[in-house]
Amino acid sequence: MTDSNAPLSAAVSLRDIKATANLGKSLASTLQPPFVLALTGPMGAGKTALCQGIVHGKGYRGRVKSPTYTLCETYSLDHGMTLYHLDLYRLNDCSDWEVLGFDEILPSGDLEKSSTESIILIEWPERLGEAISTDIIVSFEILSETRLVTLCAQSRKGVACLAALFA
Ligand SMILES: Nc1ncnc2c1ncn2[C@@H]1O[C@H](COP(=O)(O)OP(=O)(O)OP(=O)(O)O)[C@@H](O)[C@H]1O
Ligand SMILES: [Mg+2]
Repeated sequence: MTDSNAPLSAAVSLRDIKATANLGKSLASTLQPPFVLALTGPMGAGKTALCQGIVHGKGYRGRVKSPTYTLCETYSLDHGMTLYHLDLYRLNDCSDWEVLGFDEILPSGDLEKSSTESIILIEWPERLGEAISTDIIVSFEILSETRLVTLCAQSRKGVACLAALFA
């Protein structure tokens, strides 16, 4: 494994939605709870498509809906794991966060020591300001023919995931 303090990032060019879903599936195999993955980038960039790949990669067989209006979709996975897929675009302000009970979903403080059995995927995390600690940030850029996706590790666990994914 790479030096645990080293920031690690990787960029991939994804030519269609299937390539994005496949990256999500590969990424899923490296994610173990507790894990927080944030997704940034413009509307229609492919954030939900990547999350759909992750949820299916974790073994969920049903339809993975965008949480555009519900703000949060919850999936119960094997081994007692829960995956939360959040889209905060419509979050009005940080006080909504507590009202919706999301402060109970998201581990606070030191993620390494958190005992939660959750994987949390967050679209539009910037709506919460600086409030979230993440393990990986995935940034999307829309180019003329493809989506340029950059994965950036923010923690030791994030570094380990990217090392496994791109080794
Ligand atoms: N390489 C690609 N990866 C993902 N989606 C792509 C790609 N190329 C084209 N698309 C299209 O872009 C759209 C991506 O939609 P998606 O809902 O995943 O975006 P989003 O980033 O979640 O948007 P929002 O911010 O509104 O939630 C889909 O219509 C998909 O068909
Ligand atoms: Mg989306």
